[in-house]
Amino acid sequence: MADILDIAKRRGFFWQSSLIHGGIAGFYDYAHLGTAMKRKWENLWREFFIGLDENFYEIEPSVVMPENVFKASGHLKHFVDPVVKCKKCGTPERADHIMESFLGESFEGLTAEELTKLIKKHNVKCPKCKGSLEKAGVFNMLFPLNVGAGKSVAKAYLTGETAQGVYVNFKLEFDALRRKLPMGIAVIGKAFRNEISPRNAIIRMREFNQAELQIFFDPDTITEHPRFKEIQNYKLLIRPVKNKKSGKVNEILCKDVVSKMKLPKFYVYYMAKAQQFYLDILQIPKKKFRFRELSEEERAFYNKYHFDVEIDLDTLGGFREVAGIHYRTDHDLKGHQEVSGEKMVVNLDGKNILCHVLELSFGVDRNIYALMDISFREEKNRTVLSFPGPVTPIDVGIFPLVNKDRLPEKALEIKNILRGSGLSIFYDDSGSIGRRYRRMDEAGTGLCITIDHQTLKDKTVTVRDRDTMKQIRVKIDKLEKAIKDLIGNDIKFEKAGKPIKPKTSKAS
Ligand code: GAP
Repeated sequence: MADILDIAKRRGFFWQSSLIHGGIAGFYDYAHLGTAMKRKWENLWREFFIGLDENFYEIEPSVVMPENVFKASGHLKHFVDPVVKCKKCGTPERADHIMESFLGESFEGLTAEELTKLIKKHNVKCPKCKGSLEKAGVFNMLFPLNVGAGKSVAKAYLTGETAQGVYVNFKLEFDALRRKLPMGIAVIGKAFRNEISPRNAIIRMREFNQAELQIFFDPDTITEHPRFKEIQNYKLLIRPVKNKKSGKVNEILCKDVVSKMKLPKFYVYYMAKAQQFYLDILQIPKKKFRFRELSEEERAFYNKYHFDVEIDLDTLGGFREVAGIHYRTDHDLKGHQEVSGEKMVVNLDGKNILCHVLELSFGVDRNIYALMDISFREEKNRTVLSFPGPVTPIDVGIFPLVNKDRLPEKALEIKNILRGSGLSIFYDDSGSIGRRYRRMDEAGTGLCITIDHQTLKDKTVTVRDRDTMKQIRVKIDKLEKAIKDLIGNDIKFEKAGKPIKPKTSKAS
């Protein structure tokens, strides 16, 4: 992890926020490369998931919401983590996390009482000072706010999940979108949780980014999905509850998930789509991906079915949650109806329906971290982030071989030619060419274009592949298409131009 954090800071992916003032735990800023990568991830997510149905849309609700929203959602009562304090140094810690690091298994979902018993039984001490621990209690993670001044001050909270911004808008959107079901409303935005012990950089923060899609549907139609046939023979990678001990991942056809695991087709269809997003769009290796079925105790308080998407991360020692597929039933709309008095039931063709919700919930930051973890490689002479083409922060680096002989002017001319292409480009003319390649390897830039003396003679440039360090020569007028084909994985590197025989130079 230290290597990832080092490269994140050195190259400009992310770092702790307000660092010059010492920072606060759990808050991070995205720097220029991290921001570019995050935008790309969000656009891929947007295109893929909102593109799944013509009645899916994106909105941008406020993150500050009145107290009643969280009474209605159940967050004021249930959005709690078990906390335990050290009697000696006073440090608070997540009680389940202390047990997890002590016994090496997950204790998520256990009550404070159960955790207190376990801590006693195993005589677990404070990880910081080895002092004795108090009884475990609970801690609400919502961030409270006082909005306004004097008598008109109103109690509000920063939202703990983007989902609530969708539920409070359900009726207005349903009417504005011409009253059709299923209706999908997505939000890519901020969520806030006063985590007891934020840790692992952008994996567990107090302010973080979520991409969530809430699909409202008639519960009577849950056993069907009009496009289920397309995925019925697609294999899902699932670690069911019964394999908790062995950790074994079963490869199981979607139609068998329906018949054997008794999950409804509507739910399984979206599990398949989530897996395809990871394997096909983000190009996560199959062996590093799994759905983990959560037991009843582990499930979030609002979920009837709950499978987490997990990715195997070397730097965190195993599979970690990055997303979740949640069947929230009518939990939220019912709650908002009760507390607000506003009717959430809709009438479609004479039928009164209180919609159920299937939620696809992704943590953007954890996905960015996971991509960095999976792509990180250390070789003899270099460190490389081998990002998949669609998420590289910079598509191409452009360099003049030397800073003279009109090569910089030619390089800038080529940069201008590519400017309108939609490619993200980085121009660099400082330092040796070898150093410039190394910098781009650490930024994860897939391709580097070098303009040399031959360019002036035959209008060709060198294109270097980050992962193999192989080089080809490509004609300037074919450059844009060649780059786009290479980023899209539509062509083999050697076929995109004329291969150059490798030299044993350090600058490769
Ligand atoms: N709306 C449902 C919901 O919020 P969740 O499992 O609590 O469900 C969804 O969160 C995703 O948000 C998680 O899978 C994770 O990727 C991300 N996430 C949750 N808490 C986080 C935190 N403190 N820091 C960074 N990401 C977090």
